[in-house]
Amino acid sequence: MSAGVQVRLATSHDVDAVLAVHRAAAVTPGGLARAPEEISRAYVEQAIGAPGAVSFVAVGPDGAIWGEIHGRRESVALFSHVMSNLTVAVHPDRQGLGVGSRLFEALIGHARTMQPPILRIELAAGAGNPGAIRLYERLGFQHEGRQVARGLYPDGHFEDDILLGLLL
Ligand SMILES: CC(C)(COP(=O)(O)OP(=O)(O)OC[C@H]1O[C@@H](n2cnc3c(N)ncnc32)[C@H](O)[C@@H]1OP(=O)(O)O)[C@@H](O)C(=O)NCCC(=O)NCCS
Repeated sequence: MSAGVQVRLATSHDVDAVLAVHRAAAVTPGGLARAPEEISRAYVEQAIGAPGAVSFVAVGPDGAIWGEIHGRRESVALFSHVMSNLTVAVHPDRQGLGVGSRLFEALIGHARTMQPPILRIELAAGAGNPGAIRLYERLGFQHEGRQVARGLYPDGHFEDDILLGLLL
């Protein structure tokens, strides 16, 4: 299904396209933590280019960026074998085609080659995002805990965060 989709490392030339994908994905509540108006150019520039950051994009056969994933090595020495701050977004028109899985495979494969080694990848998902949690489970992430009432939506309802980790 995602045949014809190329996954490659992101560059600074991808900022506008990545911004557009994240904003489009953020329009649907219950997925990305940030609302569309919180997804700024500076946020994407950091996601792609901050020290220790790793970002992959999925480019469709039409040449457009269909999805992006990023994570970052922890900067504190004690945690520097950990990749965290993980976020993935696939354009709503391209979800369910295997693009998210491909992005994860690229990120995990890259993490395995990083020096000094990355030994752990961690992420959090809203409890109301079972599709994403299923994807993480299938990739081998283990449930590590639950942060109660971590999210508070504008309508006043709370959502727990589910913590997941993958040991490499
Ligand atoms: C979650 C997301 C990255 C998955 O990417 P994708 O390309 O749709 O995923 P894939 O096609 O590789 O499918 C893998 C799994 O993702 C889940 N999934 C598929 N479409 C989905 C959708 N529209 N919304 C949520 N999860 C979905 C399913 O569990 C699927 O596995 P299944 O086919 O066994 O049910 C993507 O749907 C997305 O960008 N959602 C909005 C943003 C978001 O929720 N990000 C994660 C925050 S923790």
